[in-house]
Amino acid sequence: MKILFVTSEIFPLIKTGGLADVSGALPAALQALEQDVRLLIPGYTQVLDKLESKRTVASFAVFPGQPEIRLLSAKMPHTGVPVYVLDAPQYFCRVEGPYQYELGGDWPDNAMRFGMLSKVAALLGSAASPIAWQADIVHCNDWQTGLAPAYLQLTPGKHAKTVMTVHNIAFQGNFDSDWLVPLDLPQSCFDMHGVEFHGYLSFLKAGLHYADRIVTVSPTYAHEIQTTEMGYGMQGLLTVRNGDVSGILNGIDEEEWNPATDKYLAAQYDNNDLAPKAECKLALQQSLGLEANAQAPLFGVVSRLAYQKGLDLLLECLPKLLDGGAQLALLGSGEHELERRYQQLAQRYPGRVSVTVRFDEGLSHRIMAGADIFLMPSRFEPCGLNQLYGMRYGTPPVVRRTGGLADSVIDAKAANGTGFVFDEADSNALYKAVLRAIDSFRNDKKFQRIQLNGMQRDVGWRSSAQRYLDLYRTII
Ligand code: ADP
Ligand code: GLC
Repeated sequence: MKILFVTSEIFPLIKTGGLADVSGALPAALQALEQDVRLLIPGYTQVLDKLESKRTVASFAVFPGQPEIRLLSAKMPHTGVPVYVLDAPQYFCRVEGPYQYELGGDWPDNAMRFGMLSKVAALLGSAASPIAWQADIVHCNDWQTGLAPAYLQLTPGKHAKTVMTVHNIAFQGNFDSDWLVPLDLPQSCFDMHGVEFHGYLSFLKAGLHYADRIVTVSPTYAHEIQTTEMGYGMQGLLTVRNGDVSGILNGIDEEEWNPATDKYLAAQYDNNDLAPKAECKLALQQSLGLEANAQAPLFGVVSRLAYQKGLDLLLECLPKLLDGGAQLALLGSGEHELERRYQQLAQRYPGRVSVTVRFDEGLSHRIMAGADIFLMPSRFEPCGLNQLYGMRYGTPPVVRRTGGLADSVIDAKAANGTGFVFDEADSNALYKAVLRAIDSFRNDKKFQRIQLNGMQRDVGWRSSAQRYLDLYRTII
């Protein structure tokens, strides 16, 4: 099967969150299932710099009257998955982020940038493909690719089937309707049964309306997005399309995230010998200026600092935990107010709290290995990857029962428990769950069982990739 996987970020070339990890790993897992899967990504500076042996395979104008862009072909590092790069320097070669500039504002031409990405994806899935390859399936991811199903449906003739994976329904790509013309969309599609959403042109709505199938990244989130509380306005459409909506839990890249081979760590370990994990903890404490203390429960957090992640709830109960001797290593960036509050806490608790505000791949691995307990009190979490990494690294997660967290973490009350789960999105419920985690931490035997349960779980991509493949087959 010829599958085009379209994405706006991909590990190890460019990453802001879990979408990059999924984009790096799922296509490779599909390739291992012997499918002809190829990627399409924007030619950001970071992508052009990191990809070797690129060659131009086509030059064409994406929209009428626009200058020509180039389509480059290369292979992904490590996995060798073929990748097409949309090389339009004027749109993608910018220092700073893929979606935003440094002060946190969206690039004002995002509609055009990702409209182009969507349009090229659609071309590669149609008879008008600019190369000698036409996809059977165009697999779209999040709003940045949401117009691709619209372009395909609006094109006469035989074309690819489409799957729209929703990684986060809160991000919708809603733009002024003036963009319809430059994006070459007919006025007729600006309709409730089309791309229109509360008077805006919505990329995500377009994807949800026109795609053949809609997938979210966990079964629980597939239900949640059909409710008023968590559907962010898309629940009506999703409920109508209920039969086309499913949830497929993300896996993890088991080579990239493996404590037995992880090159970022001070010491490697596996489920046969957890002892070197203590070395990772000590090295982490030393490098972050925390008191070197094996007995102090060390919490890890690696996260975007956003409302979604519930880290304001954690701020409320942390002082009590820190006063009781616990430590915190936090790595994250995002909302400036949260960054500031965490930095203040670090000043108040020298030696107990370390806060690093930046993106740091190596440190994220070192926290995963060196912490005793990983905290993820998300208000909502479509899937979440960090709890999976935590389990794999013998660092049981404390999570709220929502989305993919509910589907992947088993509470320690069960014999096969892998972490600590709480229900209410409030700091008291979180506090109680953390106390339970600390209690277990103080009981070596019990804690080790929870660690091993997590480490032995199958969190790889194989079975989920197979489910995607089965889904593609049902629509072709
Ligand atoms: P989301 O995609 O909502 O941010 P996920 O848990 O699915 O949440 O994935 C987040 C990914 O981004 C993980 O791989 C995590 O380690 C990584 N990450 C988040 N913040 C940082 C950071 N500041 N530095 C390094 N990695 C980070
Ligand atoms: C989104 C979600 C996260 C999910 C990731 C990958 O960023 O917030 O829960 O794990 O996408 O699917």
